[in-house]
Formats: sequence, C-alpha cells, structure tokens
Amino acid sequence: MSDHHEDTSKVSNLSKREIRQRITVLKDQLTDQEWKIRSARIRERLINHAVWQQAQHVAVYHSVNKEVDTVPLIEEGWRQGKAIYLPKCNPRTRKLTFYRVDSFHDLEVVYYGIPEPDPKRCAALDFAHLQCLIVPGLAFDKQGYRIGYGGGYYDRLLGVLPADISRVSLAFQFQVLPFPLPRETFDQPVHMIVTEEEQIVCQGEGDHVP
Ligand SMILES: Nc1ncnc2c1ncn2[C@@H]1O[C@H](COP(=O)(O)OP(=O)(O)OP(=O)(O)O)[C@@H](O)[C@H]1O
Ligand SMILES: [Mg+2]
Repeated sequence: MSDHHEDTSKVSNLSKREIRQRITVLKDQLTDQEWKIRSARIRERLINHAVWQQAQHVAVYHSVNKEVDTVPLIEEGWRQGKAIYLPKCNPRTRKLTFYRVDSFHDLEVVYYGIPEPDPKRCAALDFAHLQCLIVPGLAFDKQGYRIGYGGGYYDRLLGVLPADISRVSLAFQFQVLPFPLPRETFDQPVHMIVTEEEQIVCQGEGDHVP
C-alpha cells in the first residue's frame, strides 16, 4: 500500500470532533493575505457560475474569523440588485430564521460573535422566493457531506428545505477531504462546493446543480 493510501485510511477513522479540530488549526494558520486572496478566488468562481447569476434571492451567512470571507460576496449581491438574506440563530431551538438585509447597519452581534439581522428592522424570508442558500461548514467530502460547528442548525434547515433551492458551500481546498466524512442519519449534503481551485458538483447529474 502506498504512503498516500495509508494516510487516507488513517484520517478516515477520525471522528467529527477530530476533523473539526484539525481543519480549525489549518484555517487559523492562513495569513490574512492568503485568506483574502483565496477568498477572492472562491468569490470570483461563484459569481461567474450560473447558480449565482440566475439567483435573484440568495441567503448567505456572515463569515467570522478565517472562514471564506463572505462580506464582499454580500456586497456584490447588493451591487447586482439581488435580495440578500442572513440567518439569525435561536440557541434554544437550534433553528435559523432568515431576514432580508440591505445594509450592514441592519446587523447586530447577539450570539457567538456572529453579526446577524435585527428582526425589528428586517423582513423575514419567504422560502418560496429563495433560489440559492450558501451553507457554512468546516469540512466537506466530495459527495457534499459536511461537518459544521456541531449545533445541527444547518442539518435541521436542510432537512426541510425545498429540493429546488441550490445549496452551495464555499471552502478552501484543504477543507474538502479526500475520504467520506462520518455520516449520521440527520446529516444533509450540499449540491455544490466552490473552492479556490475547482467547483465540485456533489449531487445531481453531470454539471447540473438544482
Ligand atoms: N433534523 C434534525 N432534527 C433534530 N436534531 C438534529 C437534526 N439534525 C441534526 N440534529 C442534531 O444536531 C446535533 C449536531 O449535529 P452535527 O454534529 O452533525 O452538527 P453539524 O452538522 O456540525 O452542525 P451544523 O448543521 O450547525 O453545521 C446532533 O446531536 C443531532 O442530533
Ligand atoms: Mg451535521
């Protein structure tokens, strides 16, 4: 067996918790400059893709720390006249509610240091309008399965999200692992992952993303 094979089989025994720890270390090691350059490449790839171009109503999370920077993506969406929605979390129910945001002034930090919409000032999303949901995550596999921060917020949402809404994740290439991630019955995959090097269509036929 080659070294590469041995490495892969070793890492594939990792638990979700161990994968979270390893990827977090790699992410934190990115310099500010690398983070910016790679985030810009990922953003370019997404905004040139039909899934983004054809979506008029897009839900995006607000990145924190060394996540792929979504702030310029939100701004690009506004520039292009799209309706942009951001999530607000409810730690008691572990559910997300999305609100339309037209300015960063509509945001406030309530939980986990993440800017989120102020429901007093923003209108709630009607999912019937939504065409594209950007899904956060720490680690992904090529089938679109993901590991988030462990709250189950996005698994709960994706479990009931209409199937025709594109679910897209933005990730640095090192967040896409070359082996299947641990999968539990409630884990929900995304349709496409965009990295600085490629876009990976995970679910569906050929290049088609729902
Ligand atoms: N549809 C669901 N209904 C109820 N509980 C759920 C559902 N989906 C996930 N959970 C719960 O959420 C918890 C965390 O799941 P997991 O470790 O997969 O989180 P994650 O995928 O990293 O988080 P997130 O979805 O927020 O990114 C689990 O204990 C699981 O029981
Ligand atoms: Mg999960």
